Amino acid sequence: RLFKAYTKGVVKLQPGNWFYTRPFLDFADKIYDFKFRPTDIVIMTFPKAGTTWMQEIVWSLKHPFESDNQLDGFPCVALSSKYNLLEGDFVKSTGSGLSAIQADDGYQLLQKHCPGKDPKNGVFLQIAEKISDPRIIKTHLPFSLLAPSLLNTCKVVFVARNPKDVCVSFYHHSNIVKTHGYTGDFNKFFELFLNGEVMYGPFWKYLEEAWERREHPNLHCVHFEDLKSNPMKEISKLNDFLDTGLNADQIERISDETSFEAMKKKEPKKCNTGTCPLMDRSKGSFFRSGTVDSWKKNFTKEQNDKMNEWIQKHSSNGNNFRLRFS
Ligand code: A3P
Repeated sequence: RLFKAYTKGVVKLQPGNWFYTRPFLDFADKIYDFKFRPTDIVIMTFPKAGTTWMQEIVWSLKHPFESDNQLDGFPCVALSSKYNLLEGDFVKSTGSGLSAIQADDGYQLLQKHCPGKDPKNGVFLQIAEKISDPRIIKTHLPFSLLAPSLLNTCKVVFVARNPKDVCVSFYHHSNIVKTHGYTGDFNKFFELFLNGEVMYGPFWKYLEEAWERREHPNLHCVHFEDLKSNPMKEISKLNDFLDTGLNADQIERISDETSFEAMKKKEPKKCNTGTCPLMDRSKGSFFRSGTVDSWKKNFTKEQNDKMNEWIQKHSSNGNNFRLRFS
């Protein structure tokens, strides 16, 4: 009852006890059967780990001569031909149903790319099938709910972030994003997060599935914290991984154009007004802090101790993502 999003019920799916709202079941098979192409780049992240930042970087690497002065895609519109959210149909039907998709600017894309298609069959999935290569597809789904051939087919960029910052950022997100509609306080959210009972949870299992595949040549893992402290270095590594062949000047330009301040400036004005279809902007901005360790303002000492213990507990099974998170 704390989430408007949960009114249609929730499900826990194996093998990870993955926590989703019931409408996920309407799309789970279609998503699992989604055909990736060798030219695809998949950005895989737990929500709030830096998805939007990474998608802008990857887009810029693939399109070094196109400079955008306005963001396209989340958080401004849900549907975008630049980056398609693979499970977007489920996310949309979770909250306010088809009407929310129709109210979205990006709905026009379906008409453009897929004339005559029925939105009930999945607007996001149908657009994803139609957009031209190279596609940038983002997902918060774990490997185990996607096609097993994913990594053997195309490249995947995985972003990990300190769960303390993810938790605070997710709490904020759940407040402002209308499809989540969270009404509880931070303390309650903190407990749900630790229990793996917020959307896309549990957090550690999500990381573990990427960690298990870390040696695969088509998987590249980035830490939000590293990207923040040395964007040039991390973007250069991505340049190598994606074979985009850009020079140091071009990488520096991308680093500047994808900084927190630059991206915040590129948010269309209408996104920051009461007319934004996705978010209640009176409760805050999507570009909130963009920093490392902002959790310190929210956590009590008890919460910090508890989360440290939780991090410790998940350290025993060889998942070394955690080493950066204590
Ligand atoms: P905070 O809420 O901590 O500020 P996602 O895109 O996965 O939803 O993640 C959103 C988080 O990334 C938010 O974190 C947001 O402010 C931060 N973010 C977005 N763009 C960023 C950028 N260019 N640099 C640093 N942080 C960024």
